[in-house]
Amino acid sequence: MLIPLLLLLTADIDLTLALNNGFTTPAMGYSTWNDCSSMRDNGPQGWCWNSEDHVKNVTLYFKSSGLFHLGYNRINIDEGWLKGRYTNGSLYEDVEKFPSGMKGLGDWIKSQGFHYGLYTCRGTCQCSTGTYSATGSYGYEKEDVDWMVQAGADYLKVDSCCGSQDHATAFSDYAKFRDAMNATGKQVWFSLCGWESWYAPVGASLGNSWRIAGDGSGWAPLTNCMNVQASVATYSGLGGWNDPDLLIGPKVYVGGQTDAQARAQFSMWCLFPANLLISQNVLQWTDYALETYSNAEAIAINQDSLGSPAQRVVGTDLTYPCSPSPSQPCTNIWGRRLSNNRYAMGFVNNGNSPTNITCNASCFAKFLSSSSSPKSVTIRDVWAHADVAKLTEPFTFTAPVDGNGFAALFTIVPN
Ligand code: GLA
Repeated sequence: MLIPLLLLLTADIDLTLALNNGFTTPAMGYSTWNDCSSMRDNGPQGWCWNSEDHVKNVTLYFKSSGLFHLGYNRINIDEGWLKGRYTNGSLYEDVEKFPSGMKGLGDWIKSQGFHYGLYTCRGTCQCSTGTYSATGSYGYEKEDVDWMVQAGADYLKVDSCCGSQDHATAFSDYAKFRDAMNATGKQVWFSLCGWESWYAPVGASLGNSWRIAGDGSGWAPLTNCMNVQASVATYSGLGGWNDPDLLIGPKVYVGGQTDAQARAQFSMWCLFPANLLISQNVLQWTDYALETYSNAEAIAINQDSLGSPAQRVVGTDLTYPCSPSPSQPCTNIWGRRLSNNRYAMGFVNNGNSPTNITCNASCFAKFLSSSSSPKSVTIRDVWAHADVAKLTEPFTFTAPVDGNGFAALFTIVPN
């Protein structure tokens, strides 16, 4: 359950105190959204391909592929299930897509060992439901939370369409959902979806994760999500996370990204750390994609027990595409502390050609602990699964990084 009083506290408190619903590390699993909406224009079922059969097949794939055993244990149904509201106020689902109903589907998903997520909006509509009546949860916050929790959901994403953009009103809308979730007495992951960085300072007092930017429907908007993350990184910590959006896959989504960009997104989301919710058609993806999301070393960075956020230590906001100039390089370096006096570091290159990126002594000094910094370290390349350098103070490390949206990810282990 969440503790509302902490809304009043400032962000420099220990965020582990702000939540006690038991969910500490970032959420991992699947979301229907970018999978479903990728079929918006050409899917077999029109606007949204989201359906019971598809979700069940995805769930089974998460087990057979090994993703579930790596920690991807949530199956979240985004927009596309909630058809309308009866005159008595109760919700009803789209039983053409979900013949077992949302409770039936939830029971089945949980019987497979997964958590189950559902979606609504805090405003008076859902975001792009041409197909459905304008059903939002405004004025029905408690009733709708109860409905979804009774259907078995323990992850609720609450979007912001047709909701007020006044900050105080938005916070108070979301507090109604938080209080309703607390009142159920169940552990419910509360995922706020307000698309703005101004949620970050109060996010941990409201829920477990909060969107900080618009939809990351390709590498250019995802670059924006990273820029925003750089500005609010310190508000994220154990139990309450900035959410720079779902893991959209390679190519599948309209306007999507390359294989390398999908891997770059995953690298950076592991480093931030942020929720790892795969939102693409895993039933049609490549071996490269499975290898990307199955990297246990990267996942371990994401799920590290310290939960400390990565900071951008070199570089400024990136664009994509980006042509490098001396005043505006197209590269970033991010660094972060891990448990057991280890660290992680990421290099990003949005320029149009490969380049060498160097973290020098002043770069390392920005994220190594000033009190217990190791004197000698091993740098391990998380994608090569190999130790690539041994450094002694003062540290300097250079690596070649491909262009057009490529990220390298390293762990730094004291010798
Ligand atoms: C918004 C959200 C997305 C998704 C869609 C559903 O765009 O940001 O993550 O939930 O709505 O329509």
